[in-house]
Amino acid sequence: MTTAEAVPAAVLATPAAYKDPEALYAALAAARRDDPVSLVEVEGYTPFWAVTRYADIIKVERAAKTFTNSPRPVLMTAEQDRLQQQVGIDTLIHMDGAKHRQYRAIGVNWFKPSALAQLQEQVNALAKRFVDKLAAAGGECDFVQTVGVDYPLYVIMSLLGIPEDDFAFMLKLTQELVGNDDPELQRGTSDEENMMAMLDMFAYFQKLTENRRANPTDDLASAIANATVDGAPLDDIQTVSYYAIVATAGHDTTSSSITGGLQALIENPDQLAKLRDNPDLMPTAVEEMIRWVTPVKEFMRTAAEDTELHGKTIKAGDAVLLSYVSANRDEDAFDDPFAFNIEREPNKHLAFGHGLHFCLGAPLARMEIAAFFTELLSRLDHIELAGEPQLTATTFVGGLKHLPIRYSLR
Ligand code: HEM
Repeated sequence: MTTAEAVPAAVLATPAAYKDPEALYAALAAARRDDPVSLVEVEGYTPFWAVTRYADIIKVERAAKTFTNSPRPVLMTAEQDRLQQQVGIDTLIHMDGAKHRQYRAIGVNWFKPSALAQLQEQVNALAKRFVDKLAAAGGECDFVQTVGVDYPLYVIMSLLGIPEDDFAFMLKLTQELVGNDDPELQRGTSDEENMMAMLDMFAYFQKLTENRRANPTDDLASAIANATVDGAPLDDIQTVSYYAIVATAGHDTTSSSITGGLQALIENPDQLAKLRDNPDLMPTAVEEMIRWVTPVKEFMRTAAEDTELHGKTIKAGDAVLLSYVSANRDEDAFDDPFAFNIEREPNKHLAFGHGLHFCLGAPLARMEIAAFFTELLSRLDHIELAGEPQLTATTFVGGLKHLPIRYSLR
């Protein structure tokens, strides 16, 4: 077994490492410099190749026939991996080739900027509602709890057409599913108990499917429930998997971008002042917040054949981890990558991935983040930290779990 000391990239299989960004970035910088495609063998995990340079990640994502998403699109413990394959979860991120194209096509129209334009008013209204909630909190709160977790959930659940009464239940399940490396968010202690959260979510969506098949409406849930591939409806697992990917992919990701984006603005008051004085900078500011936070830490691929990467021989069946966190601080890809610069341009970050699996929800995420900061900054007089921000332990999706702030709003 290698250790974190022996192979710096072993931090990528250490959930707690993501709670200490300075040490994490130092280890990843060493990996990029000394061993950009390094074999990581950590107890409890299937061994994997860690790809830490921006250019190599692009290479892997473009070679979709050589590096497939199936059967293991994200890093899990060997036990979680086994359970996941046993349950037979089959979402977009697990698919390749023609099947992936067909299933992606079901959702693609819903996330096009033209379709989202219809959602803009609803999103603006939700942004206002949550800034009102901040104002009502009286000048001091934990921003993650007051806004961060609920606002993106309300947006995604509204898009799906889920009734507001069920939002709290969905929130709990999505947090248990994506935050399951962090003891504070875990449902139980065992992999089996975490897997129960997934089964609960499947049961919920199963009911929703039956309902939307019997009574179709004009929401995304109805489009999924009534979709066909090659003339046949999706089977139960495929249908609920589709809901699950939209609900989970669209939630903690955007939440972490907003909360981490606010922390970056507070810690860089010149950038905050510039954005408040120039709201036209919002599109580049949003992109920089997403790069800065990189809420999706990694995705994985599996080699379909023997191949070479950066002088290393990758064997068919080997797991390959793409570290977006590392790529987005790669000195060869970004000028001054450790500076938070709301005017950064170009900003071809990899936070949304690259290639065939490029994030389907990117336009929605950008719209949601921009709507929130536009509303907040138009009413903000003053803001500062009121305590120590705390990050989630994770190896997949995450960001802040606490951001205490003090502020005054108009
Ligand atoms: C895929 C990041 C928000 C839905 C992905 C991937 C990444 C990502 C890295 C995989 C890309 C790859 O393998 O190359 C993010 C980030 C977000 C965000 C950083 C917020 C800032 C959303 C939202 C939704 C969404 C709001 C939907 C409501 C999806 C879906 C996929 C995906 C469905 C799978 C696409 C496929 O496999 O073809 N996202 N995402 N994401 N994302 Fe997002």
